[in-house]
Amino acid sequence: MDSRKLVIAIDGPAGAGKSTIAKIVAEKLGYAYIDTGAMYRAVTLKLLRQNLPFHPDLAGSVAEHICVRFQPDAGINKVFLDEEDVTEAIRSHDVTALVSQVSAVESVRSAMVELQRKMGKQGGAVLDGRDIGTVVFPHADVKIFLTANVDERVRRRYNELLAKNQQVDKETLRSEIITRDKYDSEREISPLRCAKDAIYLDTSNIDKDGVVKKILEICKVE
Ligand code: DC
Repeated sequence: MDSRKLVIAIDGPAGAGKSTIAKIVAEKLGYAYIDTGAMYRAVTLKLLRQNLPFHPDLAGSVAEHICVRFQPDAGINKVFLDEEDVTEAIRSHDVTALVSQVSAVESVRSAMVELQRKMGKQGGAVLDGRDIGTVVFPHADVKIFLTANVDERVRRRYNELLAKNQQVDKETLRSEIITRDKYDSEREISPLRCAKDAIYLDTSNIDKDGVVKKILEICKVE
């Protein structure tokens, strides 16, 4: 067992199962789980609540003054925005529809990256997102690029929403995932990329337990 407290970076496209996997890996290792997508979602939620037309400067100012923290609670990674529990609210359709645009703003990214580095710098953390292995922690101990084909990612997201009793149409979900992937991969600042030294894991045909096992093997802690 490696007793060092590692920084584990898990990047990949929407719906690949990053948050599910990252949370389990963190629990198994006794590490903190930092859901960086949730941080961009919290900024987006706060911005939406201002009921003003979207403007990058406004998004930047929200990000610079926001307080986001995580708290594990009975298997749920709770997200607090300025001390309000927004775990559910940040998953709303409105937030999902705007978050790619908000996360492409340079000042939003620099504020979030600074917070993420503070949260993870002691090690003993699993971070999932789009730019963890490339920008946030380019020297992370373990870098995984987690992906799956679009059909499988749509299927997983669909089942996840159904389990929460949320009405969804598969075709809408598919087009939202494709649009978000395109936006996240083609933006100018920190686009979604597989870091050169990341391990590429196509999980289209591997179940959750299999993926967790593989990652723990890569971390050499099992
Ligand atoms: O993982 P998620 O779907 O909750 O992420 C929401 C959005 O946040 C995603 O569309 C892109 C953005 N994001 C990002 O730009 N960088 C990260 N490290 C994490 C998420």
